[in-house]
Amino acid sequence: MRTLLHISASPRGVASESLAIADTFLQTYRDSHPTDTVQTWDLWDGSLPEFGPTAAAAKMAVFAGADPAGDEARAWTDARRTFERFAAADRYLFSVPMWNAGVPYILKQLIDVISQPGMVFGFDPVAGYTGLLTGKKAAVIYTSAVYGPGRGPSFGADFQSTFFDDWLNWAGICDITSVQFRPNLATADAASGRHAAHSQARDVAKTF
Ligand SMILES: Cc1cc2nc3c(=O)[nH]c(=O)nc-3n(C[C@H](O)[C@H](O)[C@H](O)COP(=O)(O)O)c2cc1C
Repeated sequence: MRTLLHISASPRGVASESLAIADTFLQTYRDSHPTDTVQTWDLWDGSLPEFGPTAAAAKMAVFAGADPAGDEARAWTDARRTFERFAAADRYLFSVPMWNAGVPYILKQLIDVISQPGMVFGFDPVAGYTGLLTGKKAAVIYTSAVYGPGRGPSFGADFQSTFFDDWLNWAGICDITSVQFRPNLATADAASGRHAAHSQARDVAKTF
């Protein structure tokens, strides 16, 4: 029995395209994997700790081989607790809207909180980084409403899937499938692209 964790970075509720596609994925996943546990983590629910000066000092202390103390130790405990919630899953489904060519800041906050030495990655001065979250799979739903491949530079650039796919690979989660829905709201009828994205989500969920 596995655990699939759906991590949502869209705050738009019923208006969200990525959440609607995720719902389609999850319905099929539950049907195809009846003994698995499915959990959802809405990153906007206030559960993420901040990662500011104290936590950054704790991180650098750990990197230098020291034990954080006082407020830094508390910030480190918060980061570890958040990491453990994330790492407990075997499978991930991410809903990731494009915001200003990148990802919503709440997803970057999750990444900054959990990307810690001895948790998400190992480091060797000669060999460099090693991702520690191996043996896991991710499906990612990417949405945008102006940017789309082939539309030209005046429609923006993709630092969303490039950044997030890179983070997953860096963390050791190298089995990644993405579903992309990128209607050009200025001109197009989005219905056919939306239909295709939901259909692809169903197909991916069946064998995920
Ligand atoms: C704050 C914000 C920034 C956005 N920036 C971009 C952008 O840079 N490029 C783009 O194509 N769409 C952009 N959009 C449009 C969203 O990517 C689009 O509405 C997408 O469907 C959002 O995903 P969701 O429906 O799951 O929330 C932006 C939307 C918001 C709310």
